[in-house]
Amino acid sequence: MDAGDFGVRPGEVMADLPEGFDAGLHFIGRLRTPWTERAACPKNGLQSDAVCTVEVDPAYAPGLASVTGCTHLILLYWMDRATRGLLVQQPRHADGPRGTFSLRSPARPNPIALSVVELIGCEGDALRVRGLDCLDGTPLLDIKPYYASTDSRPGARVDRAGATR
Ligand SMILES: C[S@@+](CC[C@H](N)C(=O)[O-])C[C@H]1O[C@@H](n2cnc3c(N)ncnc32)[C@H](O)[C@@H]1O
Repeated sequence: MDAGDFGVRPGEVMADLPEGFDAGLHFIGRLRTPWTERAACPKNGLQSDAVCTVEVDPAYAPGLASVTGCTHLILLYWMDRATRGLLVQQPRHADGPRGTFSLRSPARPNPIALSVVELIGCEGDALRVRGLDCLDGTPLLDIKPYYASTDSRPGARVDRAGATR
């Protein structure tokens, strides 16, 4: 999928992506969600209470051992329908352009997304979770435990005014 599928708006900047890749990835499963169009997706996992399914491919299922001990997980997934390579973006609701690395937009050189999800249950090779924001069928890259003790930064902020970089 190239930038033309979703368009590049005035003021936006695309990366000159190299021909080759620096690393390979294995998709370890798929995320099953109620959303089949981007416009219908929540913008982040707190915007919906929908219970979604993390389908882990049988080859990777042994890695789920002990996962039910976690109340929350970090999911890393691949935004397979995103424009790839945008470096400067003009978000619809922003007052000006933003650098991709200051945004959670799926359009980026490596379209990797993350969500912290609540683990509701585990049935065979599938997890039921709450807190996703992606299209049905989005490829899954990794699952990690969320540690409130080390992952939470209650004082963190994103201040746009006055930011130069
Ligand atoms: C703003 S991103 C946030 C993703 C993730 N929570 C993060 O912070 O990295 C979520 C949006 O990405 C879009 N999206 C969802 N699944 C996608 C996919 N498979 N490919 C491309 N875009 C997708 C939808 O518009 C959705 O509202």
